[in-house]
Amino acid sequence: MPRIAYVNGRYLPHADASVPIEDRGFQFADGVYEVVTIVDGKLADADGHLTRLARSLKELSIPWPVKPATLRFIMAEMVRRNRARHALLYIQITRGVAPRDFKFPKQPAPSLVLTCRRTAFQPAATLEKGVAVITMPDIRWLRRDIKSTSLLPQVLGKQKAAEAGAFEGWMVDGQGFVTEGCSSNAWIVTADGTLVTRQPSNEILNGITRLSILDCMRKLGIHFEERAFSVAEAYEAREAFISSASTFALPVTRIDGKTIGDGRPGALSLRLRQAYMDHIGSTDPVSVK
Ligand code: PDD
Repeated sequence: MPRIAYVNGRYLPHADASVPIEDRGFQFADGVYEVVTIVDGKLADADGHLTRLARSLKELSIPWPVKPATLRFIMAEMVRRNRARHALLYIQITRGVAPRDFKFPKQPAPSLVLTCRRTAFQPAATLEKGVAVITMPDIRWLRRDIKSTSLLPQVLGKQKAAEAGAFEGWMVDGQGFVTEGCSSNAWIVTADGTLVTRQPSNEILNGITRLSILDCMRKLGIHFEERAFSVAEAYEAREAFISSASTFALPVTRIDGKTIGDGRPGALSLRLRQAYMDHIGSTDPVSVK
């Protein structure tokens, strides 16, 4: 797969792509992003990601660098030029280049960058065993509903999880309730069989995968509750999983070293993973060699 990036109107070899040092994304993390998965050469849930991108831009008063329809064209062009089959498409928009000053520039020229990276997703063995998560305090700002490039708490959280041998960190609010994963939404199936995930608010990112899984559940007639759940409730859960563009629904079998359910990926988690694959019109790339 060739590696082609897009920077402000130009398609370039990835290694030659760069932005100026006074880009506000670099200086202030003054930007937003989306990660869209490419499965079998098809962009998954592109409409949802573009809708959320529009919302993030609006909330931060960052103008669109190009029309949404043009961005859609560039996304398709990136798939084509990279000959992407299983890959992650990264889209970043910042408030652009300006002399360093906290206030917005008077005439912003937002920057648009797209990169594409091949991915093998998680290996089948990971899906068969499920992943481990550890919990940690949520130290982020209070506009987590905006997909901001300001990700330092998640960088620290993911590093801590990796050092503990875990795949993901679940962040916990001051009352002991799980907000979400460092780069995913958190779900449990309670001891009495109810599927629970936190309700959308400023306290979490409303995942596009999360929204699609909820839609699948409505279609399948599976009952769910959107509410906060505590770490204690998660330890007692029958099943747990995370969702994101890059993991789909991925079973969690250990939380803080405690075994969840019987220690194997739960039936409902796997059923929802399959439902999500059907929703994006693809075969699960993890089980298919
Ligand atoms: N992260 N919560 C957070 C904090 C996230 O960063 C993400 C996604 C999600 C899931 O959202 P979605 O289903 O739309 O991918 C929830 C991406 C994958 C990332 O930063 O790489």
